[in-house]
Amino acid sequence: MVTGGAGFIGSNLIRSLLKSGFKVSVLDNLSTGKIENIAGVKLYEGDLLDRDFVCQCVFRESPEVVIHLAAQASVPQSLVDPSADACINITGSVNLFEASRLGGLRKVVYASTAAIYGSPRYLPLDEQHPAQPLSGYGLSKYTVERYLQLYQYLYGLDYTVLRLANVYGAGQSSSGEGGVVAVFLDRIMSGGQPLIHGDGRQTRDFIHVSDIVAAISCALERGSGAVLNIGAGLPVSINQLFRIIKKETGYAGNPAFAPPRPGDIKESWYNINRAAVELKWSPTVRLEQGIRLCLY
Ligand SMILES: NC(=O)c1ccc[n+]([C@@H]2O[C@H](COP(=O)([O-])OP(=O)(O)OC[C@H]3O[C@@H](n4cnc5c(N)ncnc54)[C@H](O)[C@@H]3O)[C@@H](O)[C@H]2O)c1
Repeated sequence: MVTGGAGFIGSNLIRSLLKSGFKVSVLDNLSTGKIENIAGVKLYEGDLLDRDFVCQCVFRESPEVVIHLAAQASVPQSLVDPSADACINITGSVNLFEASRLGGLRKVVYASTAAIYGSPRYLPLDEQHPAQPLSGYGLSKYTVERYLQLYQYLYGLDYTVLRLANVYGAGQSSSGEGGVVAVFLDRIMSGGQPLIHGDGRQTRDFIHVSDIVAAISCALERGSGAVLNIGAGLPVSINQLFRIIKKETGYAGNPAFAPPRPGDIKESWYNINRAAVELKWSPTVRLEQGIRLCLY
């Protein structure tokens, strides 16, 4: 069962799981997800905050594994409405874990985020780096990681936490977390000019959605009780990203620059050695190739 299966990462994941022969169902309230993303897949349409509904879905479907992607996934939105963020991300997740342990599930695979680290004290970020979230979103995602550890301790529910870097790929909306690739491409395709906040030298770790799908698939059987960084393991500046997108799209213009956004982190990229060992996974899609995949 994939919660949030109608969203960006979920719909890419489901296509791959179906191809591999898995029986898949989706729990989604379609708040940001789209029903056309999951045509032909069994959908339980409803909200994670509805405890009875979540229990009914899990009991009826009796999945072996839940891949938990459903979330309020926007950092800015978590600053505008922190209590809605905490409700959806924390209470919604706890509802799911309660149903999961009562339903005798084997494992939860959870999509966490680089936002749990806050401003890096050192780079690249490894999993030992202190968690110092600087947004409600980062804190709510981190709290859910701790609930998973608690549920394993109390009830033996297995888990793998995947702390995803900036995911990009076809089907991503230009709002939401880590959407700068989608934002630049949208601007260019609609005849506008991409806007860079700050001097563009800030770095991020961009990972193509197909590599995320591969990591989640590995976590179905591996990475028991592990918390793992999932990224490309490379720093890419926003200026570099713009140059790659410019080359791949044939865009003739230059970006506009605006003042940095308050709270924007200067540099962030991952050490991904632990995922290589625990999941036997490593990323395969280079950024140039990934951008090309977004265009066709
Ligand atoms: N995209 C990224 O760069 C990125 C990076 C790090 C972590 N993540 C995490 O990965 C997961 C998936 O992200 P995405 O980019 O696919 O986001 P998305 O918004 O495209 O997908 C989220 C899905 O969850 C559903 N949903 C939201 N609230 C719900 C609720 N209360 N009940 C039921 N369904 C609900 C939405 O309808 C949507 O289909 C999220 O947990 C996000 O925090 C994403």
